[in-house]
Amino acid sequence: QGPCDIYAAGGTPCVAAHSTTRALYGSYTGPLYQVRRASDNTTRDIAPLSAGGVANAAAQDSFCAGTTCVITVIYDQSGRNNRLTQAPPGGFNGPAAGGYDNLANATAAPITVGGHKAYGVYVAPGTGYRNNNTNGIATGDQPEGMYAIFDGTHYNGGCCFDYGNAERNSHDNGNGTMEAIYFGNIKVWGYGTGNGPWIMADLENGLFSGVNPGYNANDPSISHRFLTAIVKGGPNHWAIRGGNAQSGGVSTFYDGVRPNASGYNPMKKEGAIILGIGGDNSVGARGTFYEGVMTSGYPSDATENAVQANITAAGYATSSAGTGLTPGSAVSLRATTACCTDRYIHHSGSTVDTAVITSSSSATEKGNASWTVRTGLGNSSCVSFESRNTAGQYLRHQNYQLHLQADDGSALFAQDATFCPEAGRNGQGASLRSLNYSDRYVRHYNNIVYIAADGGPNTFDSTNAYNDDVSWLVSSPWG
Ligand code: AHR
Repeated sequence: QGPCDIYAAGGTPCVAAHSTTRALYGSYTGPLYQVRRASDNTTRDIAPLSAGGVANAAAQDSFCAGTTCVITVIYDQSGRNNRLTQAPPGGFNGPAAGGYDNLANATAAPITVGGHKAYGVYVAPGTGYRNNNTNGIATGDQPEGMYAIFDGTHYNGGCCFDYGNAERNSHDNGNGTMEAIYFGNIKVWGYGTGNGPWIMADLENGLFSGVNPGYNANDPSISHRFLTAIVKGGPNHWAIRGGNAQSGGVSTFYDGVRPNASGYNPMKKEGAIILGIGGDNSVGARGTFYEGVMTSGYPSDATENAVQANITAAGYATSSAGTGLTPGSAVSLRATTACCTDRYIHHSGSTVDTAVITSSSSATEKGNASWTVRTGLGNSSCVSFESRNTAGQYLRHQNYQLHLQADDGSALFAQDATFCPEAGRNGQGASLRSLNYSDRYVRHYNNIVYIAADGGPNTFDSTNAYNDDVSWLVSSPWG
C-alpha cells in the first residue's frame, strides 16, 4: 500500500502524486522522475526498484556518472498526467533562459528510504516546477487535500516555497486563487510561535497560519529533518496539520473557517500545480521536497493519520554515511578548491581560518585542525563541531564569520553553532549549511572562514569558486 491507496480507500483519491523517492501506490511501477545530463543533454526516466518501491537511485548514478544531472520531469503517478516540469515566467521571471525557473540539481538532496538510496528535489532560490494545464485538480471552492514531505532544516524567508494549487497563468490573480502548502520563515504575511519555520497555507496575497492574517498562536515553529506538512480546504473550512515524517503522528495546527480577510470565501482556486515557487512565480525561496500528493475531496483526519503511518513506515533517513559527519566521530575538514587542497579548517585561540597541515605539523597544530562531530546544538538533525583540543568550544558564526567559542547555553549560540550537512556542492565531500541562515554555507575566502551566500552582498559572498569554496573533504582527524 502507498499513501494514494489510503486516500482512495478514504473516498478522497489522489489526483496528483509526485515523488522522486518512492512509488505512492502499492502497485505503481511507472517512471517517478526524469533526469537530464549535461554531457550530451540526453534524458533518462527513473522508476521504482519494484512495484510500490523506492526509486532506483543507482540508475541515476550510472547515467549521471562523470557529468551533472538536473531533474527535468516529476511524473504524476495518479494516471492523470499532472506532471511537473520547469516553471515558466509569470508575474516574475525565473533566472533561466526565457524567464523560466532553474531545474534542480539531481544529486543535491541524497537520503535513504527504507535503507535504499534516493534523491529529493533540492530547491535553491530560482528553482521551480509547475503544471498550468492539469486534469482533475480542484477549482473554485471545490474541496481538496494535500501533503508533502520536506526537509524541515532547509528553508528561508523568501517568497515562497510552496507545493499545491495555484494560478494557471503564473500571475497573481487575487485573493483566493491559490491553495498550497507553504514552508519557511517569511513573516511578511502570517506567522506562528517562535522564530519559524512554519507550515502555512498560501491562499494568494497571504500565507495564513490560522484564521487571522498575521499571528496565530497555534501554529508552532516546526523543523523535523523530515517533515510531514498538510493543508486541506473546502467551502468555508480549511486546516493545517504537521508532524515528524520519521515517527509519531500528525497534529492539527488549525481547523476552522476561512481567514478573517476578504476574498478567501468562497475560494477561486484555479487548479495549476506549483513546487518551490509562489503563485506568481516568485522565486526567492528555498527548500527540499521528497514526495507530495493532491486529492479530490476533503480528506478526513483519520485518512491523513493513516497516510502518516505509511510515511513513517517508509523509513526516511539521512545518509550521514554519505558525508562522513556522524555525531561522535572526529574529523578534519579539508578545502577542495584547487588553490587550497592542503588547507584544513583550523583555529588559533578563537580565530578560525584555514591552515596548511601536514604530517610534520606540531601536535598542537594538528589538534587545532581537528573536530569532534556533535549532534547539532540547535537541531538534532544537523551537527556542531567541537574543538578536539579545547573541549566545550565550538565553531559558531558571528557577523557571518566563524569563531571558536565556548557554548554559553543560549539559543542563539546553539543556532549559530549548528550546520546541516549536504552533499558537497562541487561533488566532493560535504557542504555545511548554516541552520539559521540557510542560504549560507561554510566557506573559505582568503583563508578566513565565513558563512557565505552565493552572490550575496559581502566580498566573501563572491560567486567566483563558490561551489569549490563551500565543499569540504571529511577526513580522519589530524589530532
Ligand atoms: O501569497 C503569497 C504570495 O504572494 C504568492 O505565492 C504569490 O503569488 C504572491 O506574490
